[in-house]
Amino acid sequence: MSNSTTTPPPETTSASPASPYGTLPPASTPASRKPVSLPRLADMHARGEKISMLTAYDATFAAMADAAGVDCLLVGDSLGMVCQGLASTVGVSLETMRYHTDSVSRGLRRVQGTAWLIADLPFGSYQESREHALRSATVLMQAGAHMVKLEGGGWTTETVRFLVERGIPVCAHLGLTPQTVHALGGYRVQGKGDAGALLKQHAHALQDAGATMLVLEMVPAALAAELTTELTHCATIGIGAGKATAGQVLVLHDMLGINLGKMPKFVRNFMADSSSIAEALAAYVRAVKDGSFPDDRLHAW
Ligand code: KIV
Repeated sequence: MSNSTTTPPPETTSASPASPYGTLPPASTPASRKPVSLPRLADMHARGEKISMLTAYDATFAAMADAAGVDCLLVGDSLGMVCQGLASTVGVSLETMRYHTDSVSRGLRRVQGTAWLIADLPFGSYQESREHALRSATVLMQAGAHMVKLEGGGWTTETVRFLVERGIPVCAHLGLTPQTVHALGGYRVQGKGDAGALLKQHAHALQDAGATMLVLEMVPAALAAELTTELTHCATIGIGAGKATAGQVLVLHDMLGINLGKMPKFVRNFMADSSSIAEALAAYVRAVKDGSFPDDRLHAW
């Protein structure tokens, strides 16, 4: 009896040194590092070892970032702007996120990569109900994500709890949440003055609901530092949030200096002092780990 489902092509090919189109090496390369896992991330957090994270949208960059020692890769919905040329992340679909998550995950597998893989739940894929969020998260987990990220606080708390209780690790995202840029009135620093208390309340509730990571985007460095000390079970990952956070994330194209628009203040162009992309990626990991990036005088509020 014939099987009606189509068999995917084998993932291992005999890539010769002259393989075209940047073919990745076959998956037989021996693993030299242990995979990053939730317990390993918790251990890094507890020991105060900074967590390095970069966005990745395709197999080749995923493999390169992994080889440079990046701990976590984020298939961010920033791909809407970086890869699709959209004006914001609002137009990114779940199918697009699935496609890029699958590509990044395949790239990591091909090189026996060790990075922890996070994928963004895009706008409109988790707001309707907790069940809706579970269905969307399932799509991304089945594409190879180890964790999903969703934006916002307050109403998201019960969604986070629902996902975590069902075995899906969750990274929350507070501060400047790009999916709600229209409601926020632009890409502005969040959590200044009195607004800081509400942001803190949301962050604590998200930790209590089981979020084990929290991206803090464009919030005052002092607020991020306080939260980093207070949240003992949830690692803060800053982007424009100062140097005190448990880890740092940047958009890959920004840190390689190939943002075609205005470079945000919180970005450092690591290509400026590097002679190759591999060197720039390694310099980023070093700078996050030794605390020399970010520099609060240049990159924070
Ligand atoms: O989509 C993204 O790339 C992100 C990072 C900027 C944190 O959410």
